[in-house]
Amino acid sequence: MMLEQEIKIPASPAASYRIKIGTDILGSLWPQIEADFGKYSKFVVTDENVVSAGHLKKLLGQRDVPTFVISPAGETSKNIDTAISIIETMEQAYLGRDTLVVALGGGMVGDIAGFAAAVFKRGVPVIQIPTTTVAQADSSVGGKTGVDSSLSKNAFGVFWHPAAVYIDVATLATLDDRQFRAGLVESVKHAIVADSEYFDFLESNLDTVLERKPDVLEKVAHWNCKIKGNIVETDPGEQNFRRILNYGHTIGHAVEAASGFGLLHGEAVAIGIIAAGLIEIELQLAGPGGLERIRRILEKLNVPVTLPDDLADKDLIDLIKRDKKAVNKWPRFVLITEIGKVYRRNEQYAVEVAPDVVEKILDRL
Ligand SMILES: NC(=O)c1ccc[n+]([C@@H]2O[C@H](COP(=O)([O-])OP(=O)(O)OC[C@H]3O[C@@H](n4cnc5c(N)ncnc54)[C@H](O)[C@@H]3O)[C@@H](O)[C@H]2O)c1
Ligand SMILES: [Zn+2]
Repeated sequence: MMLEQEIKIPASPAASYRIKIGTDILGSLWPQIEADFGKYSKFVVTDENVVSAGHLKKLLGQRDVPTFVISPAGETSKNIDTAISIIETMEQAYLGRDTLVVALGGGMVGDIAGFAAAVFKRGVPVIQIPTTTVAQADSSVGGKTGVDSSLSKNAFGVFWHPAAVYIDVATLATLDDRQFRAGLVESVKHAIVADSEYFDFLESNLDTVLERKPDVLEKVAHWNCKIKGNIVETDPGEQNFRRILNYGHTIGHAVEAASGFGLLHGEAVAIGIIAAGLIEIELQLAGPGGLERIRRILEKLNVPVTLPDDLADKDLIDLIKRDKKAVNKWPRFVLITEIGKVYRRNEQYAVEVAPDVVEKILDRL
């Protein structure tokens, strides 16, 4: 059985794409890709850990398909030099505009493969086969692609929607525990901003999720894709509504940067989610009940819910005032009034919060 979800992309030539979700589908995926994208030459992008975990072998079997394996794995390789190597490898393989790029891996692979596909000969299609909790919940859907500069994350980037997304939840079996748990924070975030029923589901099924039971992981993947798909359909270019996906990210990004990337993105966002909750209470937008439920779920995920001691002295408020979304040093936050309901002010979903309020909350974190 495969779950399916279709996402419509206004103003894009592809118009829509399909997400297929299942367990142990990787081994039988290639014939499906050939059926769906028969006229294209295929080029696979992955990383060394995904290869070691056996997922490339499972996808390709004995087939001889040109492949670029990113090494080392991880964020340090998500740069323009790697993108150049990928593109030049495609050229060396005599690939042209009829190429389909197949991204097999986590968000790092997906972002860079999508970016390379977007600029190779002015753009060829990419399909995403995400293998982490971050990628299956977040990065594979929505069309944001890019690479980092030496100064900032995703400094080079374009919107390049995938031609299809294939999610095999069985690939998560080999992911290390910290990555697995941190990645689930984005799922909790989806529930907080969009769907209280999904939040209830996560609350009652978290043990089974953490045991990585495939049927519940499929449901989680489906819920995430439905929520993110809906938001992306409504606002593909992030004019306003899509910003709700940045819940917990204003302080999360600052914490992540201040930690020197010692914290994983999801771990930093967990702290940012708690901070957003404290701001909601401070501004009397929400009562304390929702935040308590959120705190319990994050604690169960074993991600941080308080500011680590070594970050308490860092000038977080300065980082926050410099955030690209800040207006006149007033940082902007996505806030909720209750689980599943985002707060809006003057039709805006990301609202300005006074720096002294933010500072007060940072002290309490
Ligand atoms: N485009 C978007 O909308 C979007 C959204 C969120 C995050 N991102 C980006 O995604 C990246 C983070 O994604 P990530 O957490 O998936 O990182 P990642 O791709 O670096 O993967 C994390 C680690 O897990 C390994 N790995 C991947 N799949 C595995 C598997 N099945 N088994 C064992 N090991 C496996 C990787 O090699 C890596 O070491 C960041 O670059 C971030 O900017 C993009
Ligand atoms: Zn995030």
